[in-house]
Amino acid sequence: MELTDRVCVITGAASGIGAAGARRFAAAGARVVVADLQAEAAQGIAAEIGGLAFPVDVADEAAVEVLVAGTLARFGRLDLLWANAGIAGVRAPCAEQPAESWERVLRVNLTGVFFSFRAALRPMIEAGRGVLLATASVAGLQASAGSPAYHVAKAGVVMLVRHVARAYAARGIRCNALCPGLTDTPILDPFAEALGGREAFIARVLPTIPSRRVGRPEDVAEAALFLASDAASYVNGVAFPVDGGMAS
Ligand SMILES: NC(=O)c1ccc[n+]([C@@H]2O[C@H](COP(=O)([O-])OP(=O)(O)OC[C@H]3O[C@@H](n4cnc5c(N)ncnc54)[C@H](O)[C@@H]3O)[C@@H](O)[C@H]2O)c1
Repeated sequence: MELTDRVCVITGAASGIGAAGARRFAAAGARVVVADLQAEAAQGIAAEIGGLAFPVDVADEAAVEVLVAGTLARFGRLDLLWANAGIAGVRAPCAEQPAESWERVLRVNLTGVFFSFRAALRPMIEAGRGVLLATASVAGLQASAGSPAYHVAKAGVVMLVRHVARAYAARGIRCNALCPGLTDTPILDPFAEALGGREAFIARVLPTIPSRRVGRPEDVAEAALFLASDAASYVNGVAFPVDGGMAS
């Protein structure tokens, strides 16, 4: 699957799933904009893959507009945007959920995807083509007693993706969500620490994963490459689990 010369913006690309996606898309021939809150780490990934680092807070509407305008100024077009940036927030059920964490998780994980899609849609509508991706989660498909904000935000992303797919398919734009299961990235560190370390954490979660292994960021990057590429030209509005069977 090729993305030769496609201009691809990936948010949250300085770490974990986004960084694996940036590497995979660049290897497939894309010109990748590595957009992240962590400017220095984004610079490191961009230098490694010959991409462009772009510091951005996806929760900041104006900053997301600058990201898309900057991409257009640098490359002259935008072929794909993958809204991947996300945070875990406080893991506490509804009665103990702090309002501040609830609001930040919804702002970054859901409103951030909305800002990113909206900014990217304008040039894509003009061009008559484009691909949008978002990283939702199995947590957007199934509830747990963990963080209500995270579940609600990710379920919202799945519905936003389905809306965008319906609204813009006739204008040549596809929009799909990835739903990773437990994937070995720094976002899991606080949960691992709370359980006494990474090994204790993995021992706890493995029985919940039919494939009996935790996902790798590269597993999600491969699925993203498929959805990004022309091989998926008739795939639109799906929530695609990459989860070792967790959501089944
Ligand atoms: N790792 C998992 O188990 C898992 C499972 C399902 C879904 N996800 C989702 O995958 C996505 C990527 O997470 P990851 O696992 O690679 O974690 P990660 O912590 O390694 O990467 C997240 C990246 O997003 C960036 N980011 C956070 N807030 C931002 C903001 N406001 N603006 C711009 N960038 C911001 C961080 O700096 C970081 O580089 C997230 O949306 C997460 O919710 C992860």
